[in-house]
Amino acid sequence: YPGAEQFVPEQRNRDDLAMAAADCRGCPLYKDAEHVVFGEGPTDARLMLVGESPGRNEDKQGRPFIGDAGKLLERVLEEAGLSRDEVYITNAVKHIRWSVEDGPGNPKAPGVKHIQACRPWLDAEMQMVTPQRIVALGTRAARGVLGQEVTISKSRDQFHTSLWGVEVVVTYHPAAVLRHPVSEERDRIFERMVEDLRRAQRPLE
Ligand code: URA
Ligand code: SF4
Repeated sequence: YPGAEQFVPEQRNRDDLAMAAADCRGCPLYKDAEHVVFGEGPTDARLMLVGESPGRNEDKQGRPFIGDAGKLLERVLEEAGLSRDEVYITNAVKHIRWSVEDGPGNPKAPGVKHIQACRPWLDAEMQMVTPQRIVALGTRAARGVLGQEVTISKSRDQFHTSLWGVEVVVTYHPAAVLRHPVSEERDRIFERMVEDLRRAQRPLE
């Protein structure tokens, strides 16, 4: 894919970026999406949370993490002593990916090529927010900010270095809590996410 780079404007305020992203043709995902979903939150936030890509509800409304995963994420944030409006929340990929195999109306995780194509928007958000730390929610998000694949269970307990040099805490995607069939496991993953969000707030060394 050609990538988003040529669509990223010089202006670095959130609304200009979001408007320009709506016209991005950096990969094919724009074609079947209803809305672009750009990051939201204070541009002086200390934490930048990065998800995977918009889901069904996000695609409809053009806002990140407003469905079930978003509600769960808000609960995690609250338990970790944070509120949604003090963090910047975005996704590694800005348009929804609809599944072809599973029939219409089924979202699918973005591929490595979409994540790569969309990275210039993350670059622009990083320049705009200059967060102290990044929290990657799930493996695709980690791929977006680290440029490589990691295993969540093996990566949680250490800080990683993002492509921009900023420290990254890798944790689960909120959907991992929602989708786990075993309720004790759901609780456990939730608690781990809270721990990870607390760790992300520790002062820099
Ligand atoms: N899941 C994500 O990764 N991002 C969203 O914005 C919503 C659900
Ligand atoms: Fe551009 Fe990203 Fe949308 Fe692809 S997913 S068209 S790179 S904004």
